[in-house]
Amino acid sequence: MNPRLEPLLTAKARGCKVAMLTAYDYPTARLLDEAGVDVLLVGDSLGMVVLGYPDTTFVTMEEMLHHTRAVARGSQRAPVIADLPIHSYDTPEQAVANARRLMEAGADAVKLEGGISHSAQIAAITRSGIPLVAHIGMLPQSVREEGGYKIKGKTPEAAQQLLNDALAVEAAGAIAVVMELVKAEASQAITAALRIPTIGIGSGAECDGQVLVIHDLAGLFPWFTPRFAKPLAAAGASIREAAAAYVERVHSGKA
Ligand code: KIV
Repeated sequence: MNPRLEPLLTAKARGCKVAMLTAYDYPTARLLDEAGVDVLLVGDSLGMVVLGYPDTTFVTMEEMLHHTRAVARGSQRAPVIADLPIHSYDTPEQAVANARRLMEAGADAVKLEGGISHSAQIAAITRSGIPLVAHIGMLPQSVREEGGYKIKGKTPEAAQQLLNDALAVEAAGAIAVVMELVKAEASQAITAALRIPTIGIGSGAECDGQVLVIHDLAGLFPWFTPRFAKPLAAAGASIREAAAAYVERVHSGKA
């Protein structure tokens, strides 16, 4: 197994929480790596916070490859997980071929959205020797069918369905599972039931780790911040201020 993945793989047994952040470019990856972030995720959220699409369903395989290469160049230590974009894993064969392309671009593991519905793809990817992180709960690539970003696992039946999904992706060979917008009681039960680490986003504090979009943490996308994100910086405001001061400096005839 790739030694860069060791801290993620052993975190649960060691009782250590995993801190994961997204990165989409070289300087951000390098800064987050230097800051000690455990895992970098080249999420297809890049479509929204970097490329300006309305949701992640517009992101292409070529775009994911381009950004994965940049992040891989920036990370000396932290493992890089790259998202398989929508329709790049519709069949197990296609999933393996595209997972290979992301690995050749420098990823240490790949991620796809789906539980029981995608067990065949997960098993095929892991059988081919590529480490895979699953993603259950709210699935952004299905946002149009879902009619928005809604909390999952609110009823006992829905929570049981999520647990079934989580157990299925573990059985299919996933090394970890991201749980997005899962009700805290459900994510806690899933975390207790799995051997692999659970990484939550908007899913309560009891997961084995947390992941956030870097733009939400750093205040770099000030036009929208999810309620659970709790920004720790205002980088967007700093850039606006610096740009306004520069405009003032140039307009006033200074170099
Ligand atoms: O695309 C992404 O950034 C993600 C995280 C939100 C988990 O999948």
